[in-house]
Amino acid sequence: MFPQRRMRRTRIRHIQPLLREIHLTKNDLVAPLFVDETISAPRPIDSMPGQFRYPINGIASIAADLWKRGLHAVLLFGIPKEKNPDACSAFNAEGVVQQAVRRIKAEVPGMVVITDVCACEYTDHGHCGIIGESRNGPDLLNDPSLELMNRIAISHAESGADIVAPSCMLDGMVGSLRAALDDEGYEEVLIMSYSTKFASALYGPFREAADSGFSFGDRTTYQIHCGNSRQALLESQMDADEGADILMVKPAGFYLDILAAVSELGLPVAAYQVSGEYSMIKCAAERGWLKEKETVLESLTCIKRAGADLIITYFAADVAGWLNEKQ
Ligand code: PBG
Ligand code: ZN
Repeated sequence: MFPQRRMRRTRIRHIQPLLREIHLTKNDLVAPLFVDETISAPRPIDSMPGQFRYPINGIASIAADLWKRGLHAVLLFGIPKEKNPDACSAFNAEGVVQQAVRRIKAEVPGMVVITDVCACEYTDHGHCGIIGESRNGPDLLNDPSLELMNRIAISHAESGADIVAPSCMLDGMVGSLRAALDDEGYEEVLIMSYSTKFASALYGPFREAADSGFSFGDRTTYQIHCGNSRQALLESQMDADEGADILMVKPAGFYLDILAAVSELGLPVAAYQVSGEYSMIKCAAERGWLKEKETVLESLTCIKRAGADLIITYFAADVAGWLNEKQ
């Protein structure tokens, strides 16, 4: 009778597709977009081959192209013309993200527009909020930065953003934002919290993309160390308790165990395949060492398998194209 159970029967070539458990779809994907107030034509990002910064007046047509491919959500990052210690250009009604949101919503009303709520692209020191002297030296000040995040999120909501995505890993951030948004009548605006965000070397290429490198220190006093899984889970649990609508694990690929655990908390979960994950695949593929399409589809399928409901990926437009070809 040996072997009674032949697993290879389930993998007979024309049976396989029927039994596949995880299928990527275009509704799983969120495309990040960089909008740069200082340029008038798209500018390639060297550290992320195939990615561009777009000028404000070009962003609506990019969003329209993504929509035509069948993508329904974008995540916006802004590069402002001015940086200040207090990040005041981040909550200006005429700021880069605010203008971009209005243009996308006017051109493609159905597009789900998500905005990154953080200060690191808007501060001259490059940290994610207000810097000041703490008991232990200069650091990101928690409570004064909360106020700043509220103002940024409200200005994004005012411009028409559907979802705000605070990424600065402050304590009390989600509760504070929820109260501020509700206070202003934006109870229908969702909060997608970067609830479990690690201090990762994989953000390297993003620093050039968003011009958000920091001038001193690091981000380890607010982001999580890669070895801390209980802390990682507690961070997401707390954001859930404070009213987050969507949780996030970032980066994605190195942190699938965390993603699986966070997906058990009962809320939708987004996974962010970050710039370093993108560029590693892209560069190896450019050298002919990896097959790009196969590697990308494998990476995203595994992220979905681990529990992601949404995947933020710089490959979104390519993947939509590949999924469209298949039909
Ligand atoms: C800023 C922010 C970062 C990323 C998204 N939002 C960088 C950081 O925290 O240092 C990284 C995204 C990527 O690498 O693709 N808060
Ligand atoms: Zn930041």
